[in-house]
Amino acid sequence: MRILVTGGAGFLGSHLIDRLMTAGHEVICLDNFYTGNKGNILQWIDNPKFDLIRHDITEPIRLEVDQIYHLACPASPVHYQYNPVKTVKTNVMGTLNMLGLAKRVKARFFLASTSEVYGDPDVHPQHEEYRGNVNPIGLRACYDEGKRLAETLAFDYYRQNKVDIRVVRIFNTYGPRMLENDGRVVSNFIVQALQGKPLTVYGDGSQTRSFCYASDLIEGFIRLMNSDYVGPVNIGNPGEYTILQLAEAVRDMVNPGSEINFEPLPSDDPRRRRPDITKAKTLLNWEPTVQLQEGLQLTVANFRDRMNKNTDSVILGSRS
Ligand SMILES: NC(=O)c1ccc[n+]([C@@H]2O[C@H](COP(=O)([O-])OP(=O)(O)OC[C@H]3O[C@@H](n4cnc5c(N)ncnc54)[C@H](O)[C@@H]3O)[C@@H](O)[C@H]2O)c1
Repeated sequence: MRILVTGGAGFLGSHLIDRLMTAGHEVICLDNFYTGNKGNILQWIDNPKFDLIRHDITEPIRLEVDQIYHLACPASPVHYQYNPVKTVKTNVMGTLNMLGLAKRVKARFFLASTSEVYGDPDVHPQHEEYRGNVNPIGLRACYDEGKRLAETLAFDYYRQNKVDIRVVRIFNTYGPRMLENDGRVVSNFIVQALQGKPLTVYGDGSQTRSFCYASDLIEGFIRLMNSDYVGPVNIGNPGEYTILQLAEAVRDMVNPGSEINFEPLPSDDPRRRRPDITKAKTLLNWEPTVQLQEGLQLTVANFRDRMNKNTDSVILGSRS
């Protein structure tokens, strides 16, 4: 099949491309490199089955494809809040453009939505029927309301234009290739621990999150895309940890001497997040297989490697 991956040079998109290329598909990666980078897809650049297009999805594009995985959108608060109006445009105009493309070429369309559509949930764990508790004028709204509207658009194209859609709601995912500066909790802790700095916990650290390893998530994507179920489906790891527990796990793994510092909680930060994955289990026969300890080790190794290379290039740079 010929498959388009928007946001393919990013963290999750590049892992998805690895899976699709390895399975023998033709893949077109579309990205404006806002938070993605070529390094993530370098291994495929010379492959005749791979195409890379630098393009901003807020502009329409014409392509011939069988499937579209629509991931393009910055995922970390630091990046999506840097230019919130652009984030809304990416979620709304970008998703409209990609749904228009899917309609024209009769491609199956997969939307990467998010657990953020549940906002600061008053139902726990979150199941797909829960409608969420989102602040429409908060700092996160460009992202969570943007994704809610992206879901609305997908379902309206499905009902009105018979576009064949699939919608996944992704819960916190981590793994190799996360940006070092993306401000999300796993990368923050790993970078701070590797740099020998204190780990910063916002609030008292009792807020909870669940953490899914990237390869587990991508397996869920592929199963949903190739199933008959439209969605939305939660994909995430239901293991629930407090942020303090995560900080301690990273500290003990990387740098047991590191201190943990506490700072005020940002506004609209959800208190609890954990997926109810009953649907993914029963409809897709999917559940996560990588335990936090194992996933963290693989992620730490990747960060260590990249940070060593960065240090090398800085040293080489100053010598030349
Ligand atoms: N990583 C997570 O834990 C998580 C959780 C929930 C949802 N998601 C969703 O999954 C998708 C991928 O997330 P990620 O973690 O890989 O993020 P990422 O920031 O690493 O990747 C996003 C990619 O989209 C590209 N992009 C952004 N705006 C674009 C635009 N206007 N036109 C073209 N390309 C654009 C970026 O350059 C980047 O390559 C996003 O839609 C995100 O909302 C991720």
